[in-house]
Amino acid sequence: MEFKKKVVIDCDPGIDDCFALLLCICHLDVQGIVAVGGNTGLRYTERNARYITELTGRTDIPVYAGYDMPMLNKIVRATEIHGSGGIGTVVIGEPKKHLEKQHGVDFLIDTFMNHDDISLITLGPLTNVAQALLKEPRLKERIPEILCMGGSAFCGNATPTAEFNILVDPEAAKIVFESGIPIQMVGLNLTRQNLMCAADVERLKEIGGPVGSFAAELLGFSVGNSMTPNLCDAAAVSWWTGSGVITKSMKVHVDVETKGEFTRGMTVCDWRNYMGSDPLQEISREKCDNRAELPKNVEVAMEFDREQFRKLLFETIEWYKEQ
Ligand code: RIB
Ligand code: CA
Repeated sequence: MEFKKKVVIDCDPGIDDCFALLLCICHLDVQGIVAVGGNTGLRYTERNARYITELTGRTDIPVYAGYDMPMLNKIVRATEIHGSGGIGTVVIGEPKKHLEKQHGVDFLIDTFMNHDDISLITLGPLTNVAQALLKEPRLKERIPEILCMGGSAFCGNATPTAEFNILVDPEAAKIVFESGIPIQMVGLNLTRQNLMCAADVERLKEIGGPVGSFAAELLGFSVGNSMTPNLCDAAAVSWWTGSGVITKSMKVHVDVETKGEFTRGMTVCDWRNYMGSDPLQEISREKCDNRAELPKNVEVAMEFDREQFRKLLFETIEWYKEQ
């Protein structure tokens, strides 16, 4: 029996979240899905998560609702990118799959207080994870690692400096990034290396089947409505599928800016040890004055194999057709 990494996924489906869930359900051992408000409101993100479990025949995976609103920030949505219901032009009825009664934050606390072999994937604003850390501080020692789609090593998307997931709830992101939990961050510097196109939509249509057709319509909306159809969340989770999609990463200290007039929501990466002729190579101690000494709390994904990602994506959609 093939080993699959046990994960809990906190997400805001959202078109790219849906692709990420399809990859995770195929390649990882998904123990639960928690929805958060982000791309669209919680009423849709939790509904869409339940729909994905039905579409993939995995209604055994429990789905929970967390918070709809950020901790302090004003509401920011991305319905222009994902559609008002979060799944583009796809029309679905109310899924038969029920929503769990337990609050998503309490599910996160119970999961990590009672298991030490489950990892956390975050694909939306970090409100739920931060609230769980505030309610149960011992989680800082209990969550083994976090794969976070969020932030950026260079520029933002929601603002020149802030990526959407971090900007929606900067205070929550600060709590998570300061928690000491090992974080693997897949930011826009990585995901912008992936640009999906109309030919990819046609390929999904050719694969067909319920999952292929759903994916084709979702991606069709994204390609038609976004200048940058990167499928950020799907690119992020590919790191843990063992597919070799992420080809270079670097460990640096990362802080989250919560106060700057132009930088609120920015993931501030300390690249001082890398500012040599090749910014991807660390400068030796002897050759680097004002060296950064802050703890390298985050592993930042830097380079991406676009063709390997496509191979993974299309093989996954074909796999569903064979189930
Ligand atoms: O900035 C991209 C991220 O924000 C993705 O997770 C997308 O789904 C949105 O949540
Ligand atoms: Ca998302």
